[in-house]
Amino acid sequence: KNDLRNDIEEIILTEEQIQKRIEELGAEINAAYADKPEELIMVGVLRGGFIFMADLARQIKRQVTFDFIDVSSYGTGTESSGSVRIIKDLEEDIKGKHVLIVEDIIDTGLTLKKVIEMLKTREPASIKVCTLLDKPARRTEKHITSDFNGFEIPDKFVVGYGLDYAEKYRNLPFIGVLKPEVYA
Ligand code: PRP
Ligand code: MN
Ligand code: MG
Repeated sequence: KNDLRNDIEEIILTEEQIQKRIEELGAEINAAYADKPEELIMVGVLRGGFIFMADLARQIKRQVTFDFIDVSSYGTGTESSGSVRIIKDLEEDIKGKHVLIVEDIIDTGLTLKKVIEMLKTREPASIKVCTLLDKPARRTEKHITSDFNGFEIPDKFVVGYGLDYAEKYRNLPFIGVLKPEVYA
């Protein structure tokens, strides 16, 4: 009792699957930035991106710095409200740096669209996106894509490994689907 896992109907991605894929993503990212002399900065999108950012960061072999941006669109529901708010901006100047945005999931694409548009104006050397999950079925922003993606997932509302329902379940080490009665 009082165990989060009792609320989970199905595990979509296990802890082991996630960790193995993050090692592969790390290798892809290491290769992509190996010959780039400019600074690399990983920009985590709060709050959902924080756990993925922490695990991915430990796979990066070169010098890298970290910053966070806080954006929110979903409120407490399971559907995007459509309007993306910047709650907290970066602390660092990204001019001339390679920016790697780290997100838990790309769904409609509205969040990443807003973040990319805003960061582009600051003249970074490049902007790329790394997501753990991609849910292409729900994309409304068709031109918004992920350069490094962990898993494509079906159109189900998932929680865990950073992803929340009403701010809860982020601390599950796997990605799962909630039992229907949890929403009731
Ligand atoms: C979720 C998720 C992504 C975004 C994806 O964040 O973490 O940032 O939605 O959806 P989109 O592609 O349709 O924009 P949310 O706004 O719920 O805030 P959170 O990260 O604090 O949970
Ligand atoms: Mn988010
Ligand atoms: Mg959320």
